[in-house]
Amino acid sequence: MLADVIVDLQYGDCGKGKIANYLCSQNDYTHVIRYNGGCNAGHTIYHNGKKLITHHIPCGVLHGIKSVIGPGCVLNLNQFFDEIEMLEEAGVKTEGLIKIASNVHIITDFHMAEDKKDTEIGTTKRGNGPAYRDKYARKGMIALEIPDLEEYIIDMYDEIHNNKEFDDVQILFEGAQGFGLDIDWGDYPFVTSSHCTVGGAILNGVPPQAIRDVWGVAKIYETYVGAKDFEGIDPEFDLIRDIGEEYGATTGRPRQINWMDVDLLEKAAKINGVTKMVINKVDVLDQIETWKLFHGVDMLQFENAGSMYDYIESHLGEARPGINVLFSGNKEII
Ligand code: IMO
Ligand code: MG
Repeated sequence: MLADVIVDLQYGDCGKGKIANYLCSQNDYTHVIRYNGGCNAGHTIYHNGKKLITHHIPCGVLHGIKSVIGPGCVLNLNQFFDEIEMLEEAGVKTEGLIKIASNVHIITDFHMAEDKKDTEIGTTKRGNGPAYRDKYARKGMIALEIPDLEEYIIDMYDEIHNNKEFDDVQILFEGAQGFGLDIDWGDYPFVTSSHCTVGGAILNGVPPQAIRDVWGVAKIYETYVGAKDFEGIDPEFDLIRDIGEEYGATTGRPRQINWMDVDLLEKAAKINGVTKMVINKVDVLDQIETWKLFHGVDMLQFENAGSMYDYIESHLGEARPGINVLFSGNKEII
C-alpha cells in the first residue's frame, strides 16, 4: 500500500484542488480519499477548460479514479447529490466511482439551522461544527443509516485492506481546510471542527508506514475567512484580493489578506512532515511588484521574486532538510 497526503499549511484556499488534480494525472492512484471536513470546503479545479468547484467529492472522479468520502468527513445529502449532478452536467462520468465510508456522519437540517446563527467564529454556515459535536457526543447519524446512500456505501477497512479489485492500493489523500484552521493546531476558537493535518489522513485507516510523500500546499501571501481580525494595513491587500480573486469558493465572502508568515509555514511543515511543498499564486505578487513576508516580528521586503523565494527556500531547507519547495503561478499546472 502507498499513500500520498495533501495538507494545506495555512488557512485553507491554498490550491489543494489544483495539486490533487496534478498528482492524479501523474500517478496510478486507485483511490482519492477526502479525509476531513464537510461542504465548508470549496475546491476549485480547472478541468477541460471548465471551472469546477467541488465541496464534498474528491477530484479523483475527474480522472476516473475511485473517489471516497472518508470517515473523518461529515456529509450534507443535498450538497452531495447536487454535486454529482453538477459533475455529470460538466461531462464527468461518476457512476460507480463515488463512495462514502459507512461511518461518515450526516449534517442534518438541524445542524445547518444552528450553524446559520453563528456570529462568533464566522463559520461557512454549512453545519460543520454542530455535526462534529454530535459525532463526538455520540448522538450523530451515520451514512449507513440513510437508505438513499446505499449504493455509495463502503466499509473502509475492506476497501483499503481487503481489496480484491486492485493488486496494490495506492491512495491520494485530499484534505480540506488547513493547518491554521485545525481544531488542535489552529488559532482556537477561530478554527474548524476537524483534523486538517497528516494525522487526520491517518485516522481514515492507513498505517503511517504507507505514506510516501506529504505535499504541503501554501500561498505566497496569506488569506483567512472568518470573524477574527486578520488583515494587515498595507494598501497592497486590496489589490491582492482583486488580482488573486480572493473571495470564498463556498460563501463568496471577501478573504482577509496578510503577508506570508514564515514561522507558520515552518511549524506546519515540521508537524506534518512535509516532503514536498508548493507555494501557489506567486504571479499575484509579481503583478503588484511587491514581495514581502513576516519572519518573527520582522516584516521583510525583497527587491524581486527570486530573492524572496531564495529566502523562503533556505529557511525551510534548514527547518526540514531535503524538503522540495516549488513556486507556482495561479493557472500553472504546478
Ligand atoms: P477549503 O477546503 C477557507 C473557515 C471558516 C471559518 C472557520 C470555521 O476550501 O480550504 P466552519 O464552517 O468550518 O465551521 O468554519 O473555518 N473555513 C475555511 N476557510 N477554506 C476552507 O476550506 C474553509 N472551511 C472552513 O471561514 O473561519
Ligand atoms: Mg476554500
